[in-house]
Formats: sequence, structure tokens, C-alpha cells
Amino acid sequence: MRKILHVFIVLPFAFAAINTYAQGSADRGAVLADTCLGCHGIAGYRNAYPSYRVPMLGGQHEEYIVLALQGYKAGTRAHPTMQAQAGSMSDDDIQAVAAFFAGQGELDKGSARSGAAIKRGEEKAAVCTACHGPAGVSTMPNWPVLAGQHTDYLVHAISQYQSGKRTDPVMAGQAAALSEQDIKDLAAYFSAQPGLFTTHY
Ligand code: HEC
Ligand code: HEC
Repeated sequence: MRKILHVFIVLPFAFAAINTYAQGSADRGAVLADTCLGCHGIAGYRNAYPSYRVPMLGGQHEEYIVLALQGYKAGTRAHPTMQAQAGSMSDDDIQAVAAFFAGQGELDKGSARSGAAIKRGEEKAAVCTACHGPAGVSTMPNWPVLAGQHTDYLVHAISQYQSGKRTDPVMAGQAAALSEQDIKDLAAYFSAQPGLFTTHY
């Protein structure tokens, strides 16, 4: 009886502690995200050289954001600014900032754009949607949502896996056989689907 009472008394405190931790972590994520929003929070903001749009993070999976940041930190992804950003963060910081971006709202719903390249891309995308989900909305937390992402960023990212500047064993194999035209068509298709959005200040 004593033990049972003990559980009833302690449990609410434990939940309160977890809630406080989660809230604290979200607040910290918002503070950390301030720097990030200088690039990721401006619709259409461009990487200077080579020129492509900064990826949208709104609606992206939390676990994937963590994996991507750990990739820049470990050097398996090459981008000087992002390596500096991720390199200066602890694992807890990375978790907190990922939670902030993933918590900014649901994926956009709406209708897909259409066009010749998009149609070609759709036909080529069957192998990709096995992981990235129907219309690019992946249901696996560690596989990125591609739907709605900027076309030029998708082209850039796929090319990075192909050239080995991003070393991911899964995507290296997927990207290896794609022609330049395939990459353009696939990027056109995934970016034309409703999904990711730019997180604003
Ligand atoms: C100076 C502009 C800039 C700042 C500041 C910046 N980023 Fe980035 N971020 C980029 C660019 C450009 C890329 C694409 C890099 C590449 O080609 O791999 C990127 C990529 C990413 C990715 C990978 C997205 C994906 O779809 O794979 C994540 C996650 C990310 N940034 C999070 C952050 C976080 C969190 C911060 C703040 C701590 C931050 N960024 C600050 C420009 C910036
Ligand atoms: C077996 C599962 C799988 C398949 C099939 C697959 N991918 Fe991926 N994809 C992944 C994983 C895992 C990542 C994250 C890799 C990393 O950490 O950089 C990824 C990342 C990506 C990214 C980077 C997204 C970003 O925001 O930076 C793009 C673009 C992409 N994949 C496109 C494709 C395309 C196009 C195809 C089809 C030709 C494809 N993928 C097939 C698992 C897969």
C-alpha cells in the first residue's frame, strides 16, 4: 500500500518535470533559432555561391533535422556556414533547435503544380517515393520530406550525393545513376507538391 501511494505521489511530479523540461527545451530552441532564421526564415533567400535557395525547414521531420545537423558537424555534409553553425552546438542544442523548426506547423496542403518536367519527374520518382513517401511526404522520421522544397536546392542536394560531397550510403547509391535531366525532372516533381514551408520570424 505504501509503495502504491508512493507512485501516486511521485508520478505527477515526474510528469511536471518532463513538461517543464520540454517547455524549457522549446524556449531554448527558439532562442537558438534566431540566428538560423536570418537565412531559413526569409522566403527565397539564396546561398551566395553556388546560387540556390536556402532549404525550407518548416514541416520537416525533427529527427531528420537532427541527422542533417549532425552531418554538418561530423563533416559528412560540406557547407562551411552550416558546418560552423552545427559545430558550435551541443547535442542538446541541436535537439532543441530541431524541435523548434519541426514544431512550427503542419505541412502545407493544397494542389500540386503541373507541367511537362513535373510529369516526367513523376514517372521517374517511383523508386524515390518508396522512402520519401507518396508525393514526397515521407512518413519515416529520419527520411526527409521533399514535397514543396525549392527546386534548385533539390538539384543541388542530389548532385552533392552524386559527387560525394555529402556522404550518405543510402542516397549515394540512389543518386549514382541519375542523369542531369533526371535530377532536374525529379526536383521539378517534388518541389511542385504541397508540403514544406518557410518558417518566419
Ligand atoms: C548564412 C545562412 C544560414 C544560416 C545562418 C543557417 N543556415 Fe542552415 N542552411 C543554409 C544553407 C545554404 C543550407 C544548405 C547547405 C547544403 O548545401 O548542404 C542549409 C542547410 C540546413 C539544414 C539541412 C536541410 C535539409 O533539408 O537537409 C538544416 C537542418 C539547417 N540548415 C539548419 C540550420 C539551423 C538550425 C541554423 C541555426 C543554428 C542554420 N541552419 C543557420 C544556410 C544557413
Ligand atoms: C532507401 C531509402 C531512400 C530512397 C529509395 C531514396 N532516398 Fe533520398 N534520402 C534518403 C535518406 C535516408 C536521406 C537523408 C540522407 C542524409 O542524411 O543526408 C535522403 C535525402 C535525400 C535528399 C536531401 C533532402 C534535403 O532536404 O537535403 C534528396 C533531395 C533526396 N533524398 C532525393 C531522392 C531521390 C530523387 C530519390 C530517387 C531517385 C531518392 N531520394 C531515393 C533515403 C532514400
